[in-house]
Amino acid sequence: MPVIAVIGAQWGDEGKGKVVDLLAEKARVVVRFSGGDNAGHTVVNPYGEFRLQLVPSGIFYRETACIIGNGVVINPAVLIDEIDQLNQRSVDTSNLVISDRANLIMPYHILLDGLEEDSRGGKAIGTMRRGIGPAFADKVARYGIRAGDLLDKEAFLERLRLILDGKNIILTKIYGVSPLSLDEVYTQYCQYGERLAPYIRETTIMIEEALNKEEMVLLEGAQGTLLDPDFGTYPYATSSSPLAGGSSVGAGIGPTRISAVLGVFKAYITRVGAGPMPTELKDATGDLIRERGHEYGTVSGRPRDCGWFDAVAARFSTRVNGFTGAAITNLDIFDTFPLLKICVGYKLHGETIDNFPSSIAALEKCQPIYEELPGWQTPISHMREYEQLPPQARQYIARLEELTSCPVNLISVGSAREQTIQKTAIL
Ligand code: GDP
Ligand code: IMO
Ligand code: MG
Repeated sequence: MPVIAVIGAQWGDEGKGKVVDLLAEKARVVVRFSGGDNAGHTVVNPYGEFRLQLVPSGIFYRETACIIGNGVVINPAVLIDEIDQLNQRSVDTSNLVISDRANLIMPYHILLDGLEEDSRGGKAIGTMRRGIGPAFADKVARYGIRAGDLLDKEAFLERLRLILDGKNIILTKIYGVSPLSLDEVYTQYCQYGERLAPYIRETTIMIEEALNKEEMVLLEGAQGTLLDPDFGTYPYATSSSPLAGGSSVGAGIGPTRISAVLGVFKAYITRVGAGPMPTELKDATGDLIRERGHEYGTVSGRPRDCGWFDAVAARFSTRVNGFTGAAITNLDIFDTFPLLKICVGYKLHGETIDNFPSSIAALEKCQPIYEELPGWQTPISHMREYEQLPPQARQYIARLEELTSCPVNLISVGSAREQTIQKTAIL
C-alpha cells in the first residue's frame, strides 16, 4: 500500500505538478490535500501544456481516481471552468472526485480577501486574492459551507442565510461596500451544485479500498513548506498546511500509512508575494534565472523573486516534513551559468547560524553565507541517466544531498514529463 506524499519544499512552484504527473502513471489514486485555486500546477505531457488549479495532476491517466480532498477549499466556478477546459482538450474528467467535506469558497471570501489585503496597505501579504484565507478562517470558525451542503438545497439555504447575514454586516458596516444578495448567491451555488453533484462523495472509503488492494496513492501538495501557517514565514504565509503532516489530515489518510515523503525543490529558489527570502537576487543573476526559468506566476503572472538555493531553509523543510527523498527540478536553468552558489548558513547580528529563524524580523536581517561551485555550461535537458550528467552537475546534486541530509530520488531537466532522471528509487 505505497502512499507517496509530494510536498513543496520551498515557497511554492517547485514543480509539484510535473512530478505528480510523472509519478501518477503508477498510481490508482491522486489526492490534492491543501490550498485551493491559489495553486497553479503546470503539467507538460503528450496531451499538451496545462495549468491546473484544483484538479489533481493525475487527471491524464484514465484509470486514476483524482480526488479533491477535504483539506482543499473549492471555488466551484473555477473548478467547473477547469473541467470544461480539460474536456475541450480531450482530457476525460470522469475519474474526478470531490470530497463532500471540502469547504467552498463563497463570493464574500473573495471580496474579503481583497478588502483585507487593501486594508493592510504596505504590509499586504500579496495573496492571490482568491478568497483562500477567508475561506479557511471560516472553516475553523465553523462558518464554512462544504461541498456536501450543495446536495441538500433546503438545508443549504438555511445555512447560507445564517452565514450571509453575518458577512453582510462585515461588508457593509466595516468595509462600507454593498451587501451580497442571498437570492443571487443561493441560485448561483445551486447551479454549481447541480453541475458538480456527480463528483461529490465521501472519499476516505475509496482511498482505504485502494490501500487495501496495495494500489499506489499519491498525495499532491500545493504551496510550499515556507508558506505553512505554522512553519512558514508567518504572517507572509498561506492558510492551510502544505506539509507532509497536512497531507494526512487534508486527504484523510492516517500518518502511519504514508510510505514516502518526497520533497520537491527547485535547483534554486523562488517566491511570489510579500515576505523575506534571504537569498533573493535583485540583480542580473536573479533576472537571468527568472528569464531562463520563465519565473512568472502560473496563476497571477506576477514575476517571481529568484535566488540561490537556500540549504538552511532546505534543512528546515526536510526536518519539519521528514522527507525520505527529494526531487530537484529546473536543474537545466543553470546550463549557461559559469558559477553557482548555495547558501550554507546565515549571518545574523554578527554570528553565524544554520537554523531557519521562526521570526520574520530575524529572517529579514539574515545575510546568506555562500559556497561556490562550478557550473557545467552545457545543455542537459536531453539527458535521462544520472551518469550522463556533467560532473559539475553531479557535484551540485551531491552537495545538496549532503547539506540537506536527504537523498535525491529525481532530477528534472525540463518541463516535460519525460525530461526526468531517476537517480534513486522513491520507495
Ligand atoms: P508547482 O506549483 O509546484 O506545480 O510548479 P509551477 O507549475 O507553478 O511552476 C513550475 C514551473 O517550472 C512550470 O513552468 C514548469 O513547467 C516548470 N518546470 C518544472 N520542472 C522543470 C524543469 O526541470 N526544467 C524547466 N526548465 N522547467 C521546469
Ligand atoms: P503552488 O501550489 C506560490 C502565496 C501567495 C502569497 C501567500 C498567501 O502553485 O505552489 P494566499 O492566496 O494563499 O492567501 O496567498 O502564498 N502562494 C503561493 N505561492 N505557489 C503557490 O501555489 C501559492 N499559493 C499561495 O503568493 O504570498
Ligand atoms: Mg505553482
